[in-house]
Amino acid sequence: MALKLGKVIAVYPGSFDPITNGHLDLIARGAMLFDKLIVAVLGNAAKQPLFTVEERLEMLREAVRNHLNVEVDTFDGLLVDYAARKGATVLLRGIRAISDYEYELQMALMNRRLRPEIETVFLMAGEAYSFISSRLVKEVFALGGSISELVPPLVEARLRERVLRGR
Ligand code: PNS
Repeated sequence: MALKLGKVIAVYPGSFDPITNGHLDLIARGAMLFDKLIVAVLGNAAKQPLFTVEERLEMLREAVRNHLNVEVDTFDGLLVDYAARKGATVLLRGIRAISDYEYELQMALMNRRLRPEIETVFLMAGEAYSFISSRLVKEVFALGGSISELVPPLVEARLRERVLRGR
C-alpha cells in the first residue's frame, strides 16, 4: 500500500432517521481518527423515512456543531462515487453486533469492487450504544417508552412534535 501523505477524508454514510447517541459516538470517534469526516445522509432511499432529508440534515448539523472537522451533507446515487467526488478515501461504518456483520460485509465488498482505492473502516459501537437503532428508537417512542438516553434532546423534541402532529 502506498504511503499516505496529505489529509484523510472519511465519509460516514447512513439514513440517520433519526440520529441516535450511537451515531454521535461514532462521529466523535471518527472525527478523532480522520482529518475530515463527512456525515452523508442518503437522499433517495427506498424505505419510507420518518424525517425528510432536510430535517435530518438540520438535526445532524445541530448535533455535530462542536466538531470542527465534521461536515454534514446529503448524497444520491452510488456511495463510492460520492466519496470519490469528495476526495474521500475512507468509508466509515459502525458495527453493533454480529447481526450487522453480514450486511456490512456485503456492502464493503461491493464498494471495494466498485472502487478498490476506497477502504471501508469499521468501528465497533460503544458498548453503551450497541443495542440502539433508529428503527427501535422510533418504535419505543411511538409506544410511549422513554428514549431520553438514546438520542440527543433535539431529536427527542422533534419526535415529540412529529408524533403529536400525527395524532
Ligand atoms: O443507515 P443505513 O440505512 O444502514 O445506510 C445504508 C447506506 C446509505 C450506507 C447504503 O444504503 C448506501 O450506501 N446507499 C447508497 C447506494 C449505494 O452505493 N449502494 C451500493 C452499496 S454496496
